[in-house]
Amino acid sequence: MFETVSTAPPDAILGLSEAFQKDTHPEKINLSVGVYKDAQGQTPVLRCVKAAEQRIVETETTKSYLGIDGLPEYRQHVAQMLFGETMDAARLAVVQTPGGTGAVRVAADFVASQFAGAKVWISNPTWANHPSIFHAAGLPSETYRYLNSDRTGLDFDGLTSDLASGPVPGDAVLLHACCHNPTGVDPTVEQWDQIGSLMAERKLLPIIDFAYQGFGRGLQEDAAGLHAVLRHCPEALVCNSFSKNFGLYSERVGALAMVAAEAAHATAGISQLKRLVRTNYSNPPRHGAAIVATVLSDAALTAMWEAELTEMRQRIATMRQQFVDRMTGLGVSQDFQFLLDQNGMFSFSGLNPLQVDELRSKHSVYIVGSGRINVAGMTEENLPRLCDAIAAVL
Ligand code: LMR
Repeated sequence: MFETVSTAPPDAILGLSEAFQKDTHPEKINLSVGVYKDAQGQTPVLRCVKAAEQRIVETETTKSYLGIDGLPEYRQHVAQMLFGETMDAARLAVVQTPGGTGAVRVAADFVASQFAGAKVWISNPTWANHPSIFHAAGLPSETYRYLNSDRTGLDFDGLTSDLASGPVPGDAVLLHACCHNPTGVDPTVEQWDQIGSLMAERKLLPIIDFAYQGFGRGLQEDAAGLHAVLRHCPEALVCNSFSKNFGLYSERVGALAMVAAEAAHATAGISQLKRLVRTNYSNPPRHGAAIVATVLSDAALTAMWEAELTEMRQRIATMRQQFVDRMTGLGVSQDFQFLLDQNGMFSFSGLNPLQVDELRSKHSVYIVGSGRINVAGMTEENLPRLCDAIAAVL
């Protein structure tokens, strides 16, 4: 039977990491996958994580299964981090998921299984995996405009006019809460407010992908868009991840939070979410969630985490500035100043697919085919070679 199986194309993002591993260039640079690197080019284990793991090793008494919805104290911390004190906990149904991808997949399965005929509207562009996840879940997707014509900022009029005319009541709209992947272009708080109002008026369901909380402007600041939408929309699905802000990439730790209009809906909702989880991966892994819960239950560890998160965020901002300064210094015709207005790990470089290929084949510099660069992968050491390579392909 297996002779009929054809080879699938490599993943648009993780496939590049595989290619990067095989590249023998001594000074190869990987700005493809969204992974933070410190000034030494390492993806560190945060100090707060090491301390929490130490505590877990000493106190853990079992490796038995978690409940289908995950570790209770972890879910409480997720709710607190996403929604703060003001949200009525009875309106929430939270399931721990394997990373943010797992959360998006469970959200997609939920919409596809509960709302026959619904579509999901995704920004053009969006994270390369979003359309594939929705497709795999059997949820048809359509796009709404996101970037202005020179691909440096938000096309707010295009976005709002597409959301006002395309989706029908009951459709879902995928929004990136902050640090839009792949562009780094986010709406302002006022624009979020208008998006929320439009979504409520059109009776659209927000699916909010919140994978980068704390990587934009700050933990609370980055939640402003989510809170603005929730001021208008009584229902939402919120997907979060601790891959980036805790550096827990390989622990696969995230959550899906369903915000319901009424407590009874949340009770029914959690039963359906658990049914979806049980038939997919049964129940989530413990270790990452235990780390997050240990850190967030302890004031000193939480303070340590917030300081480490600030350090990561500030390093990315510094690298953005240094990249722009260096490109300006090289006298390239393309103006990169717009990168300074963008948030989080990613930006669109404006490089076309041919230039991206040439970067890889001639300079062993890996960026995603769309031209997305991971600013968090730049270091003072690799910056000169990176900028020279980009200038050469421009
Ligand atoms: C990315 O966009 O590079 C990250 O979210 C990692 C991934 O899974 O694609």
